[in-house]
Amino acid sequence: MDRTLVIIKPDAVERGLSGEIVARLERKGLHLVAAQLRTIDADTAAQHYAEHVGRPYYAALVDFITRGPSLVLVVAGVPEVWRVVRSLMGTTNPLEAAPGTIRGDFGLITRENLVHGSDSPEAAEREIALFFPAL
Ligand code: CDP
Ligand code: MG
Repeated sequence: MDRTLVIIKPDAVERGLSGEIVARLERKGLHLVAAQLRTIDADTAAQHYAEHVGRPYYAALVDFITRGPSLVLVVAGVPEVWRVVRSLMGTTNPLEAAPGTIRGDFGLITRENLVHGSDSPEAAEREIALFFPAL
């Protein structure tokens, strides 16, 4: 069964939007395989965002993702579920994200764009292994 990692980021948890975001995933027909509210530590953040090392936004991104609790999910329900989640999320910059998407409806800031979703099947399995090694 295809599965993907979703992170409801600290900005969304702080703003009380975690339930809204989970509801959107569930209403689409996806279901939760695992869920954990946790403050991501710097080492885990560095592994998760390894491909972004050296980018001008990297240090601020790690500060942001570690600043408070995130709701980390494994989601399933359809082949290529990662694509469905990315579609529900909208584009990285919330100012460009379509209305009706999570980022398009709730975001204004590229860094604080509410949600992460794996961008390929390989990324999904790598990220699930990082956050949920028992799975
Ligand atoms: O999350 P997504 O795959 O859409 O975007 P990304 O390009 O893989 O970037 C990962 C995360 O870095 C974004 O979701 C933003 O939180 C952050 N970012 C940023 O702070 N500034 C940028 N110019 C680009 C990304
Ligand atoms: Mg990405």
